[in-house]
Amino acid sequence: MKHRRPLVGGNWKMNTSRLSSATLARAVVDGLVGLKGVDVAVFPPFPYLLSVGAILRERGSSIRLGAQDACDQPDGALTGEVSCAMLKDCGVSVVLVGHSERRHALEENETVVHNKARAALAAGLDVVLCVGERIEEREAGRTDMVNEEQVRLALREVPGEQIARLAVAYEPVWAIGTGRTATPADAQDAHAKIRAVLADLYGQDEADRVRIIYGGSMKAANAAAILAQPDVDGGLVGGASLSAGEFVPIVRAAAG
Ligand code: PGA
Repeated sequence: MKHRRPLVGGNWKMNTSRLSSATLARAVVDGLVGLKGVDVAVFPPFPYLLSVGAILRERGSSIRLGAQDACDQPDGALTGEVSCAMLKDCGVSVVLVGHSERRHALEENETVVHNKARAALAAGLDVVLCVGERIEEREAGRTDMVNEEQVRLALREVPGEQIARLAVAYEPVWAIGTGRTATPADAQDAHAKIRAVLADLYGQDEADRVRIIYGGSMKAANAAAILAQPDVDGGLVGGASLSAGEFVPIVRAAAG
């Protein structure tokens, strides 16, 4: 039996509308009523945080409201940015940092990821730090090296007492939105190695408490096998989180 409570996140990315985000939120809440033993978060686009948060609250749901990104600066002349304090003001309690689409499509480098991770943790938000290798890195046998480097660089100077609010999402870039998933054995291998890095940084006890979740084309049909791995503590779900009919069974599989 795993001693870590599983975590499943629904990363809606730049999808949904005001109406469809509300419909989706209601369907997810209704589909998970009474389910215990799992933490769930949804990550709607910024403009829908308040309305989705209101739906979660009015239905008495324990689903947490998450943001897909946060600025590392507290305030000021930074057009288009959203601060951690603003997110908290809107009811957000958890934020994604270092998602591969931000690292690669939007060219966020390691310094930006590091600054965001530190700022969000310091602001009291929970952080899901996303790491993962690209296909050319995997083929060159660099998977573990890339994951280790991304974890170490992001968590530089992050004090041990904040690690209780950290989860790591292992998301091989070649699996995101492609329909290809890591095999359960590959996911387990990467997760165990990431946990070893966390143990080196913070000690084995702390590392054993950190949830390491898998992301990359997770869906209802493949979730159970991946989630059954000893170091896989949940999932970060993109495409399949846009349908309650897919997302709810994934969460149920994680709850065990
Ligand atoms: P996907 O996305 O499930 O659509 O592959 C996962 C993610 O990017 O978090």
